[in-house]
Amino acid sequence: MLKPADVAHLMGGRKVARIVYQPEDIRRRVQELGREIGEAYPSSSGELLVLGLLKGSFVFLGDLVREIPRPLQVDFLVASSYGAEKVSSGNVRLVYDPETRLEGKHILLVEDIIDSGRTLNRLLELLAVRNPRSIEICALLDKGLAAGVLARKPKFLGFEAPREFLVGYGLDHAEDFRHLPFVASLAE
Ligand code: IMP
Ligand code: MG
Repeated sequence: MLKPADVAHLMGGRKVARIVYQPEDIRRRVQELGREIGEAYPSSSGELLVLGLLKGSFVFLGDLVREIPRPLQVDFLVASSYGAEKVSSGNVRLVYDPETRLEGKHILLVEDIIDSGRTLNRLLELLAVRNPRSIEICALLDKGLAAGVLARKPKFLGFEAPREFLVGYGLDHAEDFRHLPFVASLAE
């Protein structure tokens, strides 16, 4: 079990208030998700494209796809909601669009954390017009705030997260802390 004092050398002077998910909690849950996804999309069900939302999903996606026991493809989307604020603006732009054809494929959209749900909602609209066979969401974390907002709730979810600002395992604060192998809340 890592404690805040054990990880001080990773933090550049910021303090961790609490380690919310330990590396082994995450590893175990990601393995389970990989199995669930494999069962939901048997090889006979058609092509599966795992679409990671950058940058936040890169660590999760890298671990997740190696636990999915079936053929699949990987591509990424970059959606930008602006700035370094801690609150999502809801102003979502696609700054990188997947090269891969979506038509006729099962799309699994992989997101680090769902907060307001605005980012995902906008992306679901943008992707649906490309005639995928299906679209589902896999999120590592969900703060449970998007219930009335999100057009489609995540079919695959790592953890129901506390309503705090979290960093690590892909999640950033102003681009820092994505590399942490755990998820933590920052001290003020
Ligand atoms: P939403 O559009 O409000 O659901 O925001 C989703 C995006 O905001 C995520 O993909 C993250 O990049 C970012 N975000 C939301 N909550 C957190 C957090 O607690 N820590 C770090 N990033 C977050
Ligand atoms: Mg972010």
